[in-house]
Amino acid sequence: MPTIRQYNDTTDRIQVVELWKNVFGYETAHNEPNLAISKKIATNDGLFFVAVENTDIVGTIMAGYDGHRGWLYSVAVDPKKRLSGLGGSLVQHAEKALADLGCMKINLQLLATNEATAAFYKSIGYSVEPRLSMGKVL
Ligand SMILES: CC(C)(COP(=O)(O)OP(=O)(O)OC[C@H]1O[C@@H](n2cnc3c(N)ncnc32)[C@H](O)[C@@H]1OP(=O)(O)O)[C@@H](O)C(=O)NCCC(=O)NCCS
Repeated sequence: MPTIRQYNDTTDRIQVVELWKNVFGYETAHNEPNLAISKKIATNDGLFFVAVENTDIVGTIMAGYDGHRGWLYSVAVDPKKRLSGLGGSLVQHAEKALADLGCMKINLQLLATNEATAAFYKSIGYSVEPRLSMGKVL
């Protein structure tokens, strides 16, 4: 099983950008990987994790905690490494980091069309909550 550790900008950026482009594709400017990474590491919150096998980045997860809710973002596992428990381990790692900060509830958002990732989250204990998700681009 790969090792999960904090993201290191010196060694990991190129591979993470590559993985995200491969797994997510991108349509909106605020999700552009290099921008998202730069903004996340500027917060210096220690809540950005990568899974590493030898020197290869094979998974990521980002979390956030604002003192009220914890959030999960950007769970991604290399397509060649799926269905062997890595996605679940990444979520568990982020959950522990959030719990250690005092977080009591985690939320996440998925595109309504992303049924596979919804199935993944359901199988590790998450449920769909009847909420209206709202947003505004600044
Ligand atoms: C979702 C994802 C992270 C799962 O990673 P993974 O390493 O394959 O997941 P795991 O092996 O830990 O699977 C954990 C559980 O989820 C289930 N699961 C994983 N992928 C699934 C899928 N596509 N459909 C249904 N169930 C799935 C597994 O069967 C397993 O269930 P089990 O414990 O009952 O056997 C990976 O498929 C991925 O990167 N997908 C794209 C992510 C994405 O779109 N993110 C955007 C939202 S932030």
